[in-house]
Amino acid sequence: MKAMPMEPIRPHHLFGDEMLENPFNIYRELREANPIQWSDQVQAWVVTGYAETDSVLKDKRFLSNRVSAHRARYSRSYAPLFDIFSETMVQSDGEKHERLRALVHSAFKRTEVSKYEDRIRALANELVDGALLNGEMNFVTDFAIPLPILVISEILGVPLEDRGKIRQWCDDYSVAALTFYTNTSERILKNALESAHDFRDYLRERTKVLKEAPGDDLLSSLVLAQEGESKLSLDELLANTMLLLNAGNETTCCALTNGMYILLQQPELMRALRDDPSKISDFTEEVLRQETPVQFIGRIAQEDVDFAGEQIRKGDTVILLLAAANRDPAVFDDPESFDATRRPNKHSAFGVGAHVCAGVQLAKLEMRIGFEVLLGRLKTIELAHNNLKHSRNFNLRCWAALPLNISASAHD
Ligand code: HEM
Repeated sequence: MKAMPMEPIRPHHLFGDEMLENPFNIYRELREANPIQWSDQVQAWVVTGYAETDSVLKDKRFLSNRVSAHRARYSRSYAPLFDIFSETMVQSDGEKHERLRALVHSAFKRTEVSKYEDRIRALANELVDGALLNGEMNFVTDFAIPLPILVISEILGVPLEDRGKIRQWCDDYSVAALTFYTNTSERILKNALESAHDFRDYLRERTKVLKEAPGDDLLSSLVLAQEGESKLSLDELLANTMLLLNAGNETTCCALTNGMYILLQQPELMRALRDDPSKISDFTEEVLRQETPVQFIGRIAQEDVDFAGEQIRKGDTVILLLAAANRDPAVFDDPESFDATRRPNKHSAFGVGAHVCAGVQLAKLEMRIGFEVLLGRLKTIELAHNNLKHSRNFNLRCWAALPLNISASAHD
């Protein structure tokens, strides 16, 4: 028997249309009722408090690998796809997770990532050049989507001529990864499986080339790791290359888009950041707190756990609502207000504990440089119209499109 929540979650509360437009009232209601409570609707524990989220994510009794819990729902013909999911670091635990994560750790350290600063700036400038030629931009498709894709492709050393097909394979795969939260159609799973096979064949060939002539890029170092102490298997290489090619894309896109939307609502803030770009870093931290891109992450209890007065059973799913934790008044003063100078700002937008985002430094750099370039190059940035909609993804909070009228600054 589950402990009764103090106040049952209303059925429409979680993952209904209301939550797409504005989930924050729902998060507040849930947190005020009980920061950790069982939901019959989603058949999971729902955690909305900051302290509770932090504790679960630091507690080794809650596992990241949720593949086996989900694969049973799908035909055995998709087993190879679930095998690949379970080779990613984000779905691994313990020693395996440490081994996989160590392989990419050095590439994403602040000092390593800062080497890309000039290149990120150049790419952001190229995107602004393109938009200025048109005099308008859909911020999402013309800037926020391409920037992180271009950056991670360069870091991994993906050849220019291969980027289109690799993007398609990764897109197919990432849609299927939503299977952890929703039921996924056969068509989506079939596409993902075919794309994973194609990508595996591609990587097998590319591995031969890079072993002969490794480049100064992350894919080369992962390929060389296949023969090093960590003995990365081809499937682990495949799974984690796909993860790296995907993990930072939609997330950073949402972060940039949400930040731009906030600036459009607050022209004075836009002016202040343009006049003093050193304020941009604090602004981006507050964007991540208040409009947390990854709204929630999941864990599974590997044993019975008495937690915050609740009895969590072995095998229970726990949903950690990072976006709710980031508005917990026990930690953040006046949490519903946007304070671009908030310090300290200990938000958990990048997760917490062993799985904390491997790309934190890169994401922060892309956000800072992205806004420096946009505000430096553009005199006018205005919404072209107000008919905006959020994208239909409960986990990644983002505007589907952000149409802007733009003009170049005088010195451009
Ligand atoms: C604003 C942008 C980003 C946000 C909000 C974000 C958020 C997150 C979150 C919440 C997690 C934790 C998942 C969990 O614990 O289950 C995570 C993990 C991860 N992120 Fe990010 N991320 C962003 C950008 C990036 C970038 C640019 C990269 C690098 C290409 C990246 C690579 C990863 C990887 C590899 C993991 C798995 C780490 C592990 O399991 O040890 N992320 N991210």
